[in-house]
Amino acid sequence: MLDNLFRTKPIAPAGHVDAGEPFEGSLQGEVTLKRTLTGTQLILLGIGAVIGAGIFVLTGQAAAEYAGPAVMLSFVLAGLACAFAGLCYAEFAAMLPVSGSAYSYSYATLGEGVAWFIGWCLVLEYLFAASTVAVGWSGYLNAFLGNFGAQLPEALASAPYVYEAATGKFVGTGAILNLPAVLIIAAVSGVGYVGISQSAFVNSIIVAIKVTVIVMFIGFGLQYVDPSNWEPFIPANEGGTRYGMEGVIRASAVVFFAYIGFDAVSTAAGEAKNPQRDMPIGILGSLAVCTLLYILMSAVLTGMMPFAQLGTPEPVSTALNNYPALGWLQTLVEIAAIAGLASVILVMLMAQPRIFYSMAQDGLMPKMFGRCHPKYRTPHIGTVIVGVIAALLAGLLPVGFLGDIVSMGTLLAFAVVSIGVLILRYTRPNVQRPFKVPFALLICPLGFLSCMYLFWQVFREHWHLLVGWLVIGAIVYALYGYRHSKLRAG
Ligand code: ALA
Repeated sequence: MLDNLFRTKPIAPAGHVDAGEPFEGSLQGEVTLKRTLTGTQLILLGIGAVIGAGIFVLTGQAAAEYAGPAVMLSFVLAGLACAFAGLCYAEFAAMLPVSGSAYSYSYATLGEGVAWFIGWCLVLEYLFAASTVAVGWSGYLNAFLGNFGAQLPEALASAPYVYEAATGKFVGTGAILNLPAVLIIAAVSGVGYVGISQSAFVNSIIVAIKVTVIVMFIGFGLQYVDPSNWEPFIPANEGGTRYGMEGVIRASAVVFFAYIGFDAVSTAAGEAKNPQRDMPIGILGSLAVCTLLYILMSAVLTGMMPFAQLGTPEPVSTALNNYPALGWLQTLVEIAAIAGLASVILVMLMAQPRIFYSMAQDGLMPKMFGRCHPKYRTPHIGTVIVGVIAALLAGLLPVGFLGDIVSMGTLLAFAVVSIGVLILRYTRPNVQRPFKVPFALLICPLGFLSCMYLFWQVFREHWHLLVGWLVIGAIVYALYGYRHSKLRAG
């Protein structure tokens, strides 16, 4: 049994992949994914997935509760961990341009058991993150509608159940459904169903809106920065992780959520025109743009207002409250947040069915996830199933509390990818690598250690959530994946 768990999937030598050519073994006689995405579209997909609730919602809380103005430093630290992992993703995605991302990379390096475990963690990253962000989207939309007196009643815009941490139980709230959260998931699933090009097009428009508004916020906000708000840069520790260097590190784990998504680019590898060249461009390009915007934005945000006042659900809008001259920008920020969160949901809900698609090719998920629509050439059944589950989670549960578990799942995947690159350098030195991590002996272990360090910051508080999720995953694997694995059968 252990042999089976650690059996790795062979890597076919990476020949050049061109538009129209499937690289991934399709189910026999089936339609495959369509190669259509360019390098620019991949960068935009990455930015679409990355800039969302993290910067628009969590930054203020991270500054107010943990790091103070040094939340900028937290963004640098989390960005570094992501840069190390991003380089490793780039090497894998160019070498193995399939839609399974970290799942497929682990299958090739660490064996089926680890691959399943990472695939299961990616469900947290993509499916649960989509639901989490949809709930944030609903909040932003309802607040925005409130400006025009058109706010939805609480019963239709919040979760009917809340989770009571003290008792570990879900209790009713009297609400019926978080309707906007369900509707946004239905809408973006519809876009994902009809085509990758359509999804990339919608995403590009949204990215243009949100990046323009963020650049405007940085440009106009800079004029209102009062440098005394940056002092002390790191407020003195008040115990635990409240301020001090401890707080800066804890805030890095919080704002890590803001970076999640650049790796979603790698799930589109099966649909990229020239993945060997464009995967590294898409992954590293989107990460570089977002890191720069985040550091500048957190600097302006904490410079415009004393950090203690930023702990609201819409800190960017809050920072503008004090400056009536920027009232017009406040409305634009709200629109950008609503659009921006929608593109995060879109890319996450594109990524998840593509991971399942790869898992189905390997027999670890039911065959229907491996089918493509005859006309649209998207994994349509997976898209619908993932959309329904994400909508139920977002509509019925207070998934906001899942943000930390999303980060834990992602950090584990990043850590495994970082170390996987190094392992493969030794086990398969001759596989063609169109992109190579520079100084791999240094960067890969740094990626692994920094991700595990951030993981630990969250795990020690919320370990029971992750352990519970992994136990469910182990049961599903034992009952389905282990029995149907093609590698085991072959
Ligand atoms: N990075 C994404 C966001 O911040 C998940 O919404």
